Amino acid sequence: VKITSYGVRPIEEPYFDRLNQFGFDMTYVPEMLTHDNVDASKGADGVLVRGNCVVDRQNLQKFADWGIKMVFTRTVGYNHMDLQAASDLGIAMARVPAYSPFAVAELALTMGMNLFRHVNLAVDRTHQANFTVGTDLFSKEIHTATVGIMGVGRIGLTEAKLYQGLGANVVAYDPYPSPAAKETVTLCDLPTMLAQSDIVSVHVPYFPGKNENLIDAKFIEQMKPGAVLVNTARGELADIPAILQGLDTGKLTGYGADVILNEGEILGKKFAQISDVPNDQVQQLLARYPQVLITPHMGSYTEPALQDMISVSYQNFHDHLTTGKTSNAISI
Ligand code: COI
Repeated sequence: VKITSYGVRPIEEPYFDRLNQFGFDMTYVPEMLTHDNVDASKGADGVLVRGNCVVDRQNLQKFADWGIKMVFTRTVGYNHMDLQAASDLGIAMARVPAYSPFAVAELALTMGMNLFRHVNLAVDRTHQANFTVGTDLFSKEIHTATVGIMGVGRIGLTEAKLYQGLGANVVAYDPYPSPAAKETVTLCDLPTMLAQSDIVSVHVPYFPGKNENLIDAKFIEQMKPGAVLVNTARGELADIPAILQGLDTGKLTGYGADVILNEGEILGKKFAQISDVPNDQVQQLLARYPQVLITPHMGSYTEPALQDMISVSYQNFHDHLTTGKTSNAISI
């Protein structure tokens, strides 16, 4: 059984080989799936993608023409997959609903703590030979602070527990909390969570056409003055002009993001200078360094997460091939 896998960085290949317990015949493409490299899937039985791969109707039509019946993603999020087109074309889709939740949770925590203790601001100054301790470096301690988690699924709940381990009071907003979430954190409505929290961390799926710009001016207005905002979920959730304004007025002390809008045009590329980055909003955010931390969607780039992404994906293909379905299927 042949599988073409896109977005396989060289460091990942040995893991794909070692975890290949079902003996799939793998083709690795280092780049993300685009309209230009879709031909690498010709002759395959299945296609494996990750976030920012272009799984639109045009590519799905080609897969269908070539007899490919399975297009799976090894990510949690599946906003890059056109579920309607897949359903119309009789192509099955599946995802990896959970890989090590510590991968993203730890990064979100690290960004939150960095901005909360003004580390980046201070480091930026010492790099300029400025060793003064301005009032803008004054801080609370995390065990005296409140952290608000929006979305206490596996990742959000993991981050909540990490912060609880540091002694923080953790409150959370989630319209559909799991029993584990109910046992672990204090749930409240969104305005209450925003008003109380010194750090707000967002772990919400992005549903195209439904929750764009969820983090908007109204959201920020409801936050505690001087709070830190962290988004390791999806760039589309954040209304960047509103965030920039929050930083300008001091309402926000910092913004940490592992995700940006239109990542497909930016991630994996090295530009000569910031003005070459083809995204005005990203340019403006980067100009706000050191109050803004932007990382290149690397939250899931850890060894445990990678192993889970690969082994669950192989299992998805195996289950679908042997039983005609997988428990990780996604559909409209
Ligand atoms: C996800 O699993 O949803 C991610 O954000 C990972 C990324 C490589 C797209």
